[in-house]
Amino acid sequence: MELNLATLPDYLRQRHAEIRIFESETELRIEEIGDGNLNTVYRVSDAERPERSLVLKHAPPYIKILGPDYPLSTERLTYESRALGVYNQLASGTVPAQYDFDAEVAVIAMEDLRDARVLRDDLIAGVVDTAIAEQIGRFMSVVHSHTHVENLDSATTQDYRRQFANMTMQSITADYVFTFPFAEHETNFWTPGLEPDVQRLKADTDFLVQAKHLKQIFLTMQQAVTHGDLHTGSVLVQDHTAKVIDAEFAFYGPVGFDIGLYWANYFLSYFSHQDTLDVQSALKTAIVQTWDTYAAEFRIADDTLKERTLQNIFHDAVGFAGLEMLRRLIGAAHVKDIEGIVDIPRKLRAERAALQFGTTLVKQHQSLRDVAAILAML
Ligand SMILES: Nc1ncnc2c1ncn2[C@@H]1O[C@H](COP(=O)(O)OP(=O)(O)O)[C@@H](O)[C@H]1O
Ligand SMILES: [Mg+2]
Repeated sequence: MELNLATLPDYLRQRHAEIRIFESETELRIEEIGDGNLNTVYRVSDAERPERSLVLKHAPPYIKILGPDYPLSTERLTYESRALGVYNQLASGTVPAQYDFDAEVAVIAMEDLRDARVLRDDLIAGVVDTAIAEQIGRFMSVVHSHTHVENLDSATTQDYRRQFANMTMQSITADYVFTFPFAEHETNFWTPGLEPDVQRLKADTDFLVQAKHLKQIFLTMQQAVTHGDLHTGSVLVQDHTAKVIDAEFAFYGPVGFDIGLYWANYFLSYFSHQDTLDVQSALKTAIVQTWDTYAAEFRIADDTLKERTLQNIFHDAVGFAGLEMLRRLIGAAHVKDIEGIVDIPRKLRAERAALQFGTTLVKQHQSLRDVAAILAML
């Protein structure tokens, strides 16, 4: 069964006993709200009491924006559902409540965060709330610590590995973050004028060696449950509270990837606000707070091992942040923060500075010791 606006009313009637939000005879209003590339997201509300609503996320068996000629396993939603389960258990309240998961049709029914805003939109508007960065730092730290290989017996680790063996999605990330942007690839694009910078990057052997090393870590390190797509579009914000969504890339991997993606999107915002010093300064504080909270909440009983683990996570995070920044500038998927700059010379200035900074993060990720050292380069 493929879900669309025409088939949804029937689906909801058939499934009402599992979803348990509406009665079978409730008159429903359905609208498509998603803006994503892979899936379809709907809001379903009670026509008479619109405050009673839910969100349905549906994964068609292909990449939504490309169509049926581009098949993609619907299992991605199984991983998202499992991640929601783990997050709800370990860090309750940091994700939408999950009402129902239907693996066959590939649908998650979840709490509707109706009045929340996408964090990226707040950052674009120059609204930087350091409480959000702290919450995301805490969320990552709690989940990463509790599912960390150093904190589990081998049977439990095996179980997490099996539950989060999300190879299809991991290999998409490997291509689009670590490989395609730095090769000749049809999906790459950049602002005309950035060409010399891109050519220099692609010829920089020191950079390419470090990028390859980071790709190896991404593909092989099995550390803890990693969200896998934790950028500022995967955080919804309301009343100084953050909720994490879109965990279809969740895998058992190197946790520095989550911190790196999150930071990279703050850094991209930083470069997009090039002349607004107070916004830039708040973004720097948010980046510091993310790490400080992460490190303070991180749990491994042995102090020496904990320090060593945190130091390695930090180095990985810095490298991953650099690669995420670069692929958002020259790869297939750019960010609104920068694409929205209409004045081209201004956009180019932001992109050049961000590209330079991202490159340095990758090349120096093993020697940069702390957040202060990173911020000193801005
Ligand atoms: N639980 C929710 N409550 C409110 N809006 C949501 C919820 N989940 C998703 N959305 C909206 O749908 C958009 C796409 O959701 P997302 O999970 O990122 O889908 P995709 O994986 O296709 O990108 C989000 O940016 C957000 O605007
Ligand atoms: Mg997604």
